[in-house]
Amino acid sequence: MSDNDKIEIIEELDEKLMDHEYDGIHELDNSLPPWWLYMFYGTIIFAIVYMVNFFGMGSYMQQDELNSEKEQAELAIAKYKEKYGKNIDETNAVLISDANALADGAEIYTKNCVACHAANGGGGVGPNFTDNFWIHGNTINDLFKTIKYGVPEKGMIPWESQLNPEQIQNVASYILTEFKGKNVEGGKEPQGEEIN
Ligand code: HEC
Repeated sequence: MSDNDKIEIIEELDEKLMDHEYDGIHELDNSLPPWWLYMFYGTIIFAIVYMVNFFGMGSYMQQDELNSEKEQAELAIAKYKEKYGKNIDETNAVLISDANALADGAEIYTKNCVACHAANGGGGVGPNFTDNFWIHGNTINDLFKTIKYGVPEKGMIPWESQLNPEQIQNVASYILTEFKGKNVEGGKEPQGEEIN
């Protein structure tokens, strides 16, 4: 390297040398690497777009998202309550006379209970619902309890995992409305206690 070359380099460095100096350490004013520079510009553009979009046009704010999620949750809760949430159990079940509820009870009975209690309620594997004899009582609450928890050791299935409380109330109401006291012909012999 010629002396001229060295001088040129030193002059160039001198031009780039910045004023400050810390403990003898100097800084050169080199140009920034292009990849860094363009990324930096990119972040500025992103910030502008972001600000205009979110603070200017107000699109997709977190508050909106929260609100819509809350709305959906409330809908889901309402739906759940509609289906299961009526908080019916053996202590507060009531005898339903509503035709739709009884029709629902009839459908549930036909689908799940006929095999053991017969279509006319006369019994078979399970007891006769049409006589005045009941093993576990004949109030709506008694029936609700028997249907819900079953009598597994005697072959009566617990239905609480398959029927929701409203359905249990409907089918129990159906039995008491449709079969109780009808004394159908060919029914199973009485079981349990006579209750009038
Ligand atoms: C697999 C046969 C079977 C099926 C299916 C069945 N039960 Fe029973 N059920 C029985 C038996 C057996 C008993 C008698 C239990 C006992 O001896 O304690 C009984 C008893 C009952 C009793 C009490 C009767 C009494 O005299 O106290 C009710 C109410 C009843 N079942 C309702 C239902 C309903 C409602 C369904 C359908 C959702 C149903 N059962 C499905 C076998 C069945």
